[in-house]
Amino acid sequence: MSQKVESWGSRVGLILAMAGNAVGLGNFLRFPVQAVQNGGGAFIIPYLVCFLVMGIPLLFIEWSSGRFGGKFGNHSTPYILDTMAKGRVWKYIGVFGIFTNIAVVSYYCYIESWTMSYVYHSLIGTFQGMSQGDVANFFSDYTTIGKSTTGIPYEAIVFYVICLAINTYILSKGLGGIEKVAKIGMPLLILFGVILAVRGLTLGTSGASEAFPAGNAWDGLNFLWTPQFDSLTNPKVWMAAAGQIFFTLSVGMGTIHCYAAYLKSKDDVALNAVSAGFMNEFVEVVLGSLVVIPIAAGYLGLDWVLENAGFGMAFQTMPYLFQQWGTTLAAIAGLLWFGLLFFAGITSSLAMGTPWVGFMRDEFDWNQTKSAWSFGLLALIMGLPTVFFYNMGVFDEYDYWAGTVSLVVFALLETIVFSWIFGIDKGWREINEGADIKIPNIYKFIIKYITPTLLLIVFLGAIFTPLNNDWAGNLSSLFSGNGWTLDNSSIINQLAFSGIEEKIAATTDTVEKERLLDQKFYISMARFMLLGLFLFISAIVYVAFNKRRREGRNTL
Ligand code: PHE
Repeated sequence: MSQKVESWGSRVGLILAMAGNAVGLGNFLRFPVQAVQNGGGAFIIPYLVCFLVMGIPLLFIEWSSGRFGGKFGNHSTPYILDTMAKGRVWKYIGVFGIFTNIAVVSYYCYIESWTMSYVYHSLIGTFQGMSQGDVANFFSDYTTIGKSTTGIPYEAIVFYVICLAINTYILSKGLGGIEKVAKIGMPLLILFGVILAVRGLTLGTSGASEAFPAGNAWDGLNFLWTPQFDSLTNPKVWMAAAGQIFFTLSVGMGTIHCYAAYLKSKDDVALNAVSAGFMNEFVEVVLGSLVVIPIAAGYLGLDWVLENAGFGMAFQTMPYLFQQWGTTLAAIAGLLWFGLLFFAGITSSLAMGTPWVGFMRDEFDWNQTKSAWSFGLLALIMGLPTVFFYNMGVFDEYDYWAGTVSLVVFALLETIVFSWIFGIDKGWREINEGADIKIPNIYKFIIKYITPTLLLIVFLGAIFTPLNNDWAGNLSSLFSGNGWTLDNSSIINQLAFSGIEEKIAATTDTVEKERLLDQKFYISMARFMLLGLFLFISAIVYVAFNKRRREGRNTL
């Protein structure tokens, strides 16, 4: 801890950096898809409830834990948790707060690198005159390493490495670099988003064509915005809503703790947390729903969108739709859309770099440059398999374990530590210390009881997801003695490879069987990498612990 103490340059910089951390690809790629797949207006109410009873409390917990740890010179979750609770084990819970970031950033940067490449292709007019199928094929060729696109050889790898290098370089400049990127990137992102949203709002039925006579942007907006109450009893929708809240707010990751650790000890956390959180929600709920869905529905019709909603829509469909606006406007729209995604992505991926950097600096006195480049190297090692074997499911495997399951596990554990080990009274004092707003007292109760209970329910729900997500049916089957059948999306069946095993057993086609067996191999490899990373970070935490003990600076 001999380093000079770093802190944020200004409150505006801090809030923009925190909002940039939260506002990410999740807002524009994940949210619309989740909303569509979970019934549009049926999704919004559970989503907002989850924001209020899980999102906001977790923001308070993470901001205040981070600032608390920062007072003792700790800037990453292992030793932030260690300062909050007596006992040797707590810091190992903090391993999640470094592990998840490196695992997520390695595939997140891959998407980010697509956005760079798509800006380039929009500007040079690659998509000009392409049919919708051609645009979609461009994407699949791009992500199949070895196949050539109309671009640079091994383009996906080239852009991925450039993207990681840019991230690493900015990280090596410290908090100042992050603040600068956020100050430039966030306003541009909002500007680009507003321009595209105006298009989404004004397109109406003018995009309908002979092939797609049902084109109507209003259908898309109505679908998202007409609340439906019947889904309130459907646990699947609640799970999806909770998952989206986690991902979009960046909670359960360790990045917020890390950013907050660079606050000064009397700085406000309450108002800052709420401001950054609401800024994210504005970008997600307003801008996130006014671009992809209405524009796609405007040209292709709502039915098409409902059938084809997926993460690829942004890359496989949007460039084609932009072509309908003429060559110049298409290039501009491509620049705005993929540029927006790039800024959304980079302000989040930078955040994911900071916990590792903070840890290496705190514990091993590494300088900023060495910490940053070692992070880049780790992300590269973890990331190359997702690039090379994207079509074999490595990417999805990372997203499932690191980008979904780990967030819930860590959020649950840290909430328990905060409310029950550190103690809610102390915790509440921390949250309110220096606060510029008065938080309603009900939040003390929510943080102590409601948030952990809901997190536990979400976690158990993910472990034991019933077949076809049919909770009512499976519960009655359970009580009538017929047992509980797990869905292949449950954590237990995922661990057992049930989904892919079933497919292997069902196919008689030898080529297909071969492909599925290959896929199983790559999925196992992905798990092996993730497990290896987790153990590696745990080992480093252990080494750091011994080093502290030798130097007589343990908090134990
Ligand atoms: N919140 C980001 C998004 O919406 C993702 C993210 C998660 C970023 C965790 C940093 C940490 O895309």
